[in-house]
This record gives sequence, C-alpha cells and structure tokens, in this order.
Amino acid sequence: MTTKTIVITGASDGIGAGAARQLTDIGHNVVVVGRSPEKTQEVATDLGVPFHVADFAHLDQVRTLAQELLDAYPRIDVLANNAGGTFTQKFTEDHHDLTMQVNHLAPFLLTTLVMDRLIESNASVIQTSSIAHRAWGNIDVDDLSNKRKWSAQKSYGDAKLANVLFTKELDRRYRDQGLSAVSFHPGAIATNFASEGSGPFRFAYHSLFSKLFEGVDAGASRLTWLADGEPGVTWERGGYYAKNAPGKLHDRADDPELASALWDRSEQLLAPA
Ligand SMILES: NC(=O)c1ccc[n+]([C@@H]2O[C@H](COP(=O)([O-])OP(=O)(O)OC[C@H]3O[C@@H](n4cnc5c(N)ncnc54)[C@H](OP(=O)(O)O)[C@@H]3O)[C@@H](O)[C@H]2O)c1
Repeated sequence: MTTKTIVITGASDGIGAGAARQLTDIGHNVVVVGRSPEKTQEVATDLGVPFHVADFAHLDQVRTLAQELLDAYPRIDVLANNAGGTFTQKFTEDHHDLTMQVNHLAPFLLTTLVMDRLIESNASVIQTSSIAHRAWGNIDVDDLSNKRKWSAQKSYGDAKLANVLFTKELDRRYRDQGLSAVSFHPGAIATNFASEGSGPFRFAYHSLFSKLFEGVDAGASRLTWLADGEPGVTWERGGYYAKNAPGKLHDRADDPELASALWDRSEQLLAPA
C-alpha cells in the first residue's frame, strides 16, 4: 500500500473523525483539521497525528490554515473537504450565508490556495456533499447566499450542489495536470449534524428519529474508501458517489456552464477587498 498524506477537515467529530481513525489504522499519515481547538486536539492526540484549527465562518482563518498546510506538508495526497453542516440563518463577517460559506466558499478557498501543492502531489480532492443537493439545491450564482429568500433546506441544498459542481469543475480544469476530484453522499448518519441548525434537520438528527440512521463508522467508511482508493480505478474522476457506487445527480449537476459560472462567482466573492 502507498502511504498517503491525507488532510481531513471537519475531523473533530462525526464522519471526519471516524475516517481519520480508519485511515490512520490502515497506515496513512492523517492530518486532522477542526474548528474547536479542544475537540480537534483530543482526536489528534488519540490518533497520534498532527492537527490544525480553523473556523470556516472566518475566511481569514482559512487563509492562515492554507499557509500552515503549505509550510508543514511537502506533499498533500488527499484533501478531504468534509467540514460542513446546516446552520441557522446568519451572515458572516465576510458577508456570506454561513451555511454556504462553511460548506462551499471556505473549502473552495482552501483548495485553490493550496492548488500548486495538490498538483505537485497528483492529489485527490474529495467533497463531502449530500443527497440534499438533489432534493433542495437550485443555485442562483447571483444570489449564492439566498439573500432574496432563505430557508434552511434551500441554503444547505445549494451548498451541497455547489460541492458537486465544484468537483466537476475541478475535474474539467485540472485533470490534465494530474488532479483528481470526487464528491459523495455519506448516507444518513447519526452524528452531531444540524446541532447548530433548526427546523426539520435539527429534529431529524437530534430526536429518536436518528435511531433510524446508520452509525458513524458506516458514513466514515465511504470517505475512507475514496481517500484510500485509486482515482480512475476505484472511482471515476469528477464523479459523485453514494454507498461506494455512482449516485443519482441533480438535473443541473452536469451543466458545465453552471459549474464554470459558480467557479467564477466564488473566485469573485473571495477576492481580497
Ligand atoms: N450526518 C449525515 O447524515 C450527513 C449526510 C450528508 C452529508 N453530511 C455531511 O457530512 C459532513 C460531516 O458532517 P457530520 O455528519 O460528521 O457532522 P458533525 O458531527 O457535526 O461534524 C461536522 C464537522 O464539521 C466541523 N465544522 C462545523 N462548522 C465548522 C466551521 N464553522 N468551521 C470549521 N469546521 C466546522 C465540525 O466541527 P466542531 O467539532 O467544532 O463542531 C465537525 O468537525 C458535512 O459536510 C455534512 O454536511 C452529513
């Protein structure tokens, strides 16, 4: 087995923490990234791996994180953009919907800031998306933060559709330079998901209803399968997976014009003032 350096965001809890454990157990060099310093350090200490802390609600912290990763790791074989969730309506100090920022804009920024290192490493970039991209996503690139009409479902669906479109556009722009990109739905997994959200998501994940969901190890195993796998052999570049098989996509997920427009708009929104 080739030992990979695998950076996982959202690794202080849930699916990310589970995958960090599974990938460490099979011999990879995992780097844990989290928001809470205490929780992140606890996971990292337990696994004996390095860690970094950044709150994606503050884009300055994402920029600092990118520099820390560039300084610390001469190779990054896998970047797993897994941090995310659904949050109550809130605009960040960067003027974006918090759900869109944490799930899409921050990982877009992180990925583009470390892009040269990813290309040098022939890396894979993995997005933890969701089946919610198909149920509720309907992106308007001119109103990514849903300032006109916000709902928790639309905001989260749009952010997770953005993960799929970002993956497709990464593949289109960087495949020839050796980069591989993939997105996936981890399953309905009983985690801390939606603990800072409201409405149906919060109810589903923080009530007896969550007993119907799969356990963390099952969700984590789908991220582990992609991170440990060989792009182009285990999984198709640019693809979207659910339960380790090609998943059903939103009607607009394969629209190259939309993916390209989302990329350009994201760059524009993230450009330093
Ligand atoms: N659970 C499901 O059924 C399900 C289904 C589809 C997709 N997903 C996706 O799977 C991914 C992992 O979620 P999970 O279910 O494992 O939930 P989780 O247990 O709540 O874990 C979420 C992770 O993201 C981190 N995070 C949250 N807000 C952040 C911020 N502002 N900045 C940086 N990191 C932040 C959390 O940090 P803290 O420890 O500080 O909270 C935690 O490490 C998410 O992208 C989620 O959308 C989950």
